Amino acid sequence: MTILVTGGAGYIGSHTVRALQRQGLRVVVLDNLVYGHRPVVEQVLQVPLVVGQLGDRALLDQLLSGEHPATGGAPGRPGEAIEAVLHFAAYAYVGESVADPARYYRNNLGDSLILLEALLAEGRRRGGQPLPLVFSSTCATYGIPDPEQIPIAETCPQRPINPYGRSKWMVEQLIADFGAAYGLPSVIFRYFNAAGADPVGDLGEDHTPETHLIPLVLDALSGRSPYLQIFGDDYPTADGTCIRDYIHVSDLADAHVLGLRKLLAEGGSHVFNLGNGTGYSVQQVIDTAKAITRRGLLAHVAPRRPGDPPVLVASAERARRELGWQPRYPELSTILSHAWAWHQTLIPH
Ligand code: UFG
Repeated sequence: MTILVTGGAGYIGSHTVRALQRQGLRVVVLDNLVYGHRPVVEQVLQVPLVVGQLGDRALLDQLLSGEHPATGGAPGRPGEAIEAVLHFAAYAYVGESVADPARYYRNNLGDSLILLEALLAEGRRRGGQPLPLVFSSTCATYGIPDPEQIPIAETCPQRPINPYGRSKWMVEQLIADFGAAYGLPSVIFRYFNAAGADPVGDLGEDHTPETHLIPLVLDALSGRSPYLQIFGDDYPTADGTCIRDYIHVSDLADAHVLGLRKLLAEGGSHVFNLGNGTGYSVQQVIDTAKAITRRGLLAHVAPRRPGDPPVLVASAERARRELGWQPRYPELSTILSHAWAWHQTLIPH
């Protein structure tokens, strides 16, 4: 069976490609390489990479029908048809989405609509339902939940507060409408804070620019950057810094395999939060990273970053119950150790 992974050259996508490979599934990656890494797909994962835009409908049709060279086919001569799509491709910088919302709505929302239409058309061509879709959404769709809504269940009202979160939320709505009207089989995953790296050590987080806490803490610990900024220490939390639910990227990848299997077996429309259900403050992350690496860092308290909720912690009970998902690396110390091992392989700035 061949699976199309959009955004497979990115952080969560690449770890999921590996998880799919371990299940014996064939994978083709579609990525525009704006933020993704070609060597990760071609050299580390060694799967076919199609460099292109998700909104290129002709390209999508060729891929889904198997008439693309990456699937072993040619126009009019199908190779391996695609059985399902895992859709990671998106821009994910909140600040940039505020400054240039058009770019986010075009890429994250507009291109996703084209993908959904292609899934529908290919399903019809085969005489059945649309091809199944697994979609990467985010806890950013919840916005700033009220304290009594923590831990956040899937039923928590979604009130995203920036164009990035809104673009993901709108795609969720497209998917729900396509499910109701056309029978699109779908799983939506709302990730909390993806972190860590494959324990093998050859895949990890490598964003440019980097905005996420854990890699920036490791940058400061390793001397790649002179200091870390703590965005606010006056939040209503025990130590005044923001609390997040950090979830190992390989555990996210495992959930995708389970979600895909459920979809292929049963169809339907499903939404799952993915997190550990345990929150750690920015200060706790720093302290744990210092202990693991036995290094120190300089941290300056800076103003709050606009739009940061004080506390985001998941209830992922539904994924545990319905998918049998059991995170393998729930400890923050393990997540940080794997991230550190990967971080040390990166070329110094
Ligand atoms: N932080 C710092 N200093 C830094 C970077 C981050 O103090 O240099 C703090 C942030 O203020 C926040 C916490 O560390 O309180 C985590 O910040 P990240 O940027 O690592 O992650 P976010 O919580 O902002 O991520 C969330 C969701 C993602 C989503 C992202 C964008 O977990 O799914 O918001 O909306 F993609």
